[in-house]
Amino acid sequence: MKVAIIGAGHVGSALGRSWAKAGHSIVYGVRNPGGGKTQPPMFSGVSSQLIPDAVRLGDVVVLATPWNATRDVVAALGDVKGKIIVDCTNPLALNSEGSLGLEVGSTTSGAEEIQKLAPTAHVAKAFNTYGWENFDNASYPGYGELKPVMFYCSDSDDAKDVVARLARDLGFEPVDTGGLGMARSLEPLALLWIRLAIREGRNPNFVWGVMRRASAS
Ligand SMILES: NC(=O)c1ccc[n+]([C@@H]2O[C@H](COP(=O)([O-])OP(=O)(O)OC[C@H]3O[C@@H](n4cnc5c(N)ncnc54)[C@H](OP(=O)(O)O)[C@@H]3O)[C@@H](O)[C@H]2O)c1
Repeated sequence: MKVAIIGAGHVGSALGRSWAKAGHSIVYGVRNPGGGKTQPPMFSGVSSQLIPDAVRLGDVVVLATPWNATRDVVAALGDVKGKIIVDCTNPLALNSEGSLGLEVGSTTSGAEEIQKLAPTAHVAKAFNTYGWENFDNASYPGYGELKPVMFYCSDSDDAKDVVARLARDLGFEPVDTGGLGMARSLEPLALLWIRLAIREGRNPNFVWGVMRRASAS
C-alpha cells in the first residue's frame, strides 16, 4: 500500500519506519517538506510532500498530528472523498483539576469529530492506545501465541480491512471493536495506558493483550 502519513513526529516516524520494513511505500504529508520542525525519517522509498499532495498519492491517510491541530489539519487534507483516514490522535487536554483528560468528554470522541469534519471520508480509529515505541517494536517474546492487540473501530468495512492489515504488519493482533462510536472507549484506553506508563516511571514497554477462553458447553 501507499501510506500517506500526516505528521512526522514520534508516531508518524515510528509507523512509517515499521510499515516501510513491511513493504509499504510511505509518503509524509508535512507543512514544510523543505525543513519543518520535525523531519521525516529517512529510509528507502520515503518521500515528503505538502499535505494535500501526500493525500492524493496515498491509498490510505494516517493522521499523526496533535489533537489541537485537528481542525487545521483536516482542512489542509484537500479532497478526501472516499479516502480511508486512520486517526491515531488522542484528544488529550488538561482538565480543571490540572490532570490529563479527554477534551471531547464521553458523549463523542476525537474520531467522530474528525468524521464530522471530513464527512465523505471513511474514518477509522487505531494506533492510539500505546506509546510510539511500540509501533517501532511490537515484539513481546515469551507469551507463546499471544500477541499484543491493536484495537480499532470504524463504520466502514473497507477501512477496517486496511487497518487490520496495517496492524498485522506491525506485529499486532487486530481486534475489531465495532463502529466508530467505539472510539469513545479506545481514547480513554489511551489515557489509561499513559497514566500507567507514567506510574511505572515513564516505561512504555507494555501493551494490551486479550486472553480468550473457549466457552463452556
Ligand atoms: N507520542 C505517542 O507515543 C503517541 C501514541 C499514540 C498516539 N499519539 C497521538 O498521536 C498524535 C501525534 O503525536 P506525536 O507524539 O507523534 O506528536 P509530535 O511528535 O509532536 O509530532 C506532531 C507532528 O504533527 C505536525 N503538526 C503539528 N501541527 C500541525 C499542523 N497544524 N498541520 C500539520 N502538521 C502539524 C508536526 O509538524 P511540524 O514539524 O511542522 O510542527 C509533527 O510532525 C497526537 O495526537 C498524540 O496524542 C501519540
